[in-house]
Amino acid sequence: MQTIKLKSGNEIPLIGLGTWQMTGQECVETIKKAIDIGYIHIDTAEAYRNQKEIGRALKESGADRSKLFITSKVWLENLKHDDVIEACEQTLSDLGTDYLDLYLVHWPNKSIHMEETFKALNEIYNQGKIKSIGVSNFTIAHLREAMQHAEISMNQIEVHPHFYQDELISFCKDNGIAVTAYSPLGRGDELSDPVLEKIGDNHSKSAAQVCLRWLLQKGLVAIPKSTDDKHLKSNLQMFDWELTEDEMSEIDGLNKGERIIEPDFAEFDRTE
Ligand SMILES: NC(=O)c1ccc[n+]([C@@H]2O[C@H](COP(=O)([O-])OP(=O)(O)OC[C@H]3O[C@@H](n4cnc5c(N)ncnc54)[C@H](OP(=O)(O)O)[C@@H]3O)[C@@H](O)[C@H]2O)c1
Repeated sequence: MQTIKLKSGNEIPLIGLGTWQMTGQECVETIKKAIDIGYIHIDTAEAYRNQKEIGRALKESGADRSKLFITSKVWLENLKHDDVIEACEQTLSDLGTDYLDLYLVHWPNKSIHMEETFKALNEIYNQGKIKSIGVSNFTIAHLREAMQHAEISMNQIEVHPHFYQDELISFCKDNGIAVTAYSPLGRGDELSDPVLEKIGDNHSKSAAQVCLRWLLQKGLVAIPKSTDDKHLKSNLQMFDWELTEDEMSEIDGLNKGERIIEPDFAEFDRTE
């Protein structure tokens, strides 16, 4: 599995397993299956309510913790100093681990000052309980403020061929912040796009694999979610083929600038 180096110095595997809406026994079985076929990077969050199941699966799989990369996220209502500490402790206990490889602020929350959130994150980082600090759903304005309080290694944001956030991604790159593409398959909506299917045919690959390869060639990390054996396997088969420059440009042309994920509490309109 290829990796990229984060600002913190740690390496993140380029493909991870998304786990939003993966719960109960299905979650336990999927995580065990995924580890068995070679996934080493798992993306979860306290809000996904599946951390105990993931913890169980990790234990039952007998996986070597030091070979895994686990990301979790603190929910936007838990961003006061003591709440961050408590949420992190609960996450570590649920997952059955002593540390997280990456801990993200899941969504910005303008009603809680970032200074206290990042003070708490810096404390748990210095205690070795998290190896890298990151954020999710942050705009450039949020990032400018966050960077005054902590070393931000990652911004996890929505990116897929129908929604490419060019300016935000360039800002991240210029500031050494890696980007993880969430909903990298557009939650499945991208997969009937005839352009992606046609390009897939050129390489005997699926539209899903074309989406993921396009993201990797853009220098992004991708975390597709699947519970299906065949999809889990094919989403890992990314590193022995590549898209041509013309194919990359054709996929760039699919951008419609329309988000899929836009809850009421999002602060995507924050520009200053
Ligand atoms: N930070 C945030 O606010 C945030 C927001 C959204 C998502 N995320 C993270 O990003 C992860 C991925 O995003 P997502 O779950 O929204 O959607 P996604 O990964 O874009 O799409 C998942 C859908 O695609 C299907 N699929 C996966 N691989 C496939 C393949 N090879 N061929 C055909 N279909 C395939 C899955 O069905 P099958 O199960 O049948 O394969 C599922 O229906 C989440 O699980 C979560 O970890 C983070």
